[in-house]
Amino acid sequence: MADEILTERDGHVGVIRLNRPKQLNALNLALMEQLACALEAFDADDDIRVMVLAGNERAFAAGADIKDMADASVVDQYKRNQFARWERIKRVRKPIVAAVSGFALGGGCELMMHCDVIVASETARIGQPEINIGVMPGAGGTQRLTRAMGKATAMDVILTGRFLTAQEALAGGLVSRVVPVEHYFEEAMKIARVIAEKPPLAVQMAKESVLKAHEMSLSQGLEYERKLFYMLFATQDQKEGMQAFIEKRKPEFKGC
Ligand code: HXC
Repeated sequence: MADEILTERDGHVGVIRLNRPKQLNALNLALMEQLACALEAFDADDDIRVMVLAGNERAFAAGADIKDMADASVVDQYKRNQFARWERIKRVRKPIVAAVSGFALGGGCELMMHCDVIVASETARIGQPEINIGVMPGAGGTQRLTRAMGKATAMDVILTGRFLTAQEALAGGLVSRVVPVEHYFEEAMKIARVIAEKPPLAVQMAKESVLKAHEMSLSQGLEYERKLFYMLFATQDQKEGMQAFIEKRKPEFKGC
């Protein structure tokens, strides 16, 4: 099987690059399988604390591979069970920083929205243009884009198929930061290295808790948050973090 993705390690950071440049990183089934496996492997690796997911300068990903699915029947789609891989990505506990440049369209936008911190280059063009090819978003676009940017923008983007600029995405709260194209990957790495210095269990529980804000009522979410907060008092890193503050020294977090 071709290497549809490339992986590397940089200290506590696991880096994954989508690697179908000729197809603008269109997400075929092999790529999605390799991506889910790589994320799960980093998630299970005690040496890795955070992941960076990137495409290349021209494209983060231009969507699901249209050539793969053009002739598919409902039965084919059902048997492929492609969303099982997306569910695996959703279950990753460690934070994923997206480094997005160029096109992030359709499934590419949805993949970006599965990430936790999103760095976009000024050249990023983000959208859900499925409407132009006779379908609609299928990997969460109608839900996550609406929760991130609100109904009015989501309807505009999803029903017209237009692309958002990076600045529009930033103003609407869809991405975390926008930087010049020559810095987008390094900026994502910088953020990842900062997160990698934090106590890993607190980081993972904070991610879990933020994501619950999209799934629970406020009072349920607050209760959930409180339980995770209490739980962190069972970790050595909580003792170390607070003791280091009192002793005016840098904490050394171990992830336990
Ligand atoms: C397969 C794709 C592709 C895609 C681009 N390519 N996007 N192949 N699936 N999603 C291929 C092109 O066929 C072409 O191959 C090469 O990449 C370069 O693309 P061009 O179109 O020549 O480049 P350009 O003119 O710069 O236009 C860029 C573009 C356009 C605006 C991004 O490629 C485009 O509109 N792509 C489709 C975007 C889209 O509709 N995405 C949503 C897909 S549906 P050749 O061999 O000709 O050089 C989806 C549903 C998700 O994502 C459901 C859940 C998983």
